[in-house]
Amino acid sequence: MKRPSASPTLTGSSRECIGSAQFVTTVLHQFAESLGNAIDAKDPYTSKHSDDVAEISCFLAVAMGLTKREADIIHVAGHLHDIGKIGVPDLVLKKRGSLTPSEWAAIQKHPQAGADILKPVTALDNIGVVEMVLHHHERYDGKGYPKRLFGTQIPLGARIIAVADTVSAMLQNRPYRSAKNYQKVVEEITRCSGTQFDPRVVEVFRQSASFIEKLVSNEKAVLKRVS
Ligand SMILES: [Fe+2]
Ligand SMILES: [Fe+2]
Repeated sequence: MKRPSASPTLTGSSRECIGSAQFVTTVLHQFAESLGNAIDAKDPYTSKHSDDVAEISCFLAVAMGLTKREADIIHVAGHLHDIGKIGVPDLVLKKRGSLTPSEWAAIQKHPQAGADILKPVTALDNIGVVEMVLHHHERYDGKGYPKRLFGTQIPLGARIIAVADTVSAMLQNRPYRSAKNYQKVVEEITRCSGTQFDPRVVEVFRQSASFIEKLVSNEKAVLKRVS
């Protein structure tokens, strides 16, 4: 998909695939985007969620001072973060009411399922993408899943994706609630600093919140033009 030119995200074509860094920015990215689109296609409520998570995560990574390559890797992980939902029954994913304990347990399996799906791709494992996918629902206070890691035990990329995931999810309608406006999203992310989220990631998000709002809304505008 076309991206805003100010966004520090991936570009390139397969012609540029001449070394390991270029491989991340071309073939891996294209496959990641394709698989992210596949999981989003399962549910109309999550349309373009994986794209948004990839874009926001990459922006946050650059804003935190990570290298372009590190940000590109986090971008790839953002596209793939929910790939494990392919194993969650549609009736559970799309349920309007509250989840039963067994349904909630099925949802909570998706990070491990995603890691298991991706693990055979050695390149993704070697650059940390599998670990980021596995831990994207950990919480900074250790109350997340699947491993209840806390603080810096959680890979930085997963801590970044956790914020981006929540930002994107709150901006979308879900079967069980309506989309929040952007100011409410910023307030909610800020409220959860130090509990759900890494305070350093939240601080960078707050500093760049207006740009991220434009980043997400620009994507929506592009999507409307091509649809
Ligand atoms: Fe992408
Ligand atoms: Fe997830």
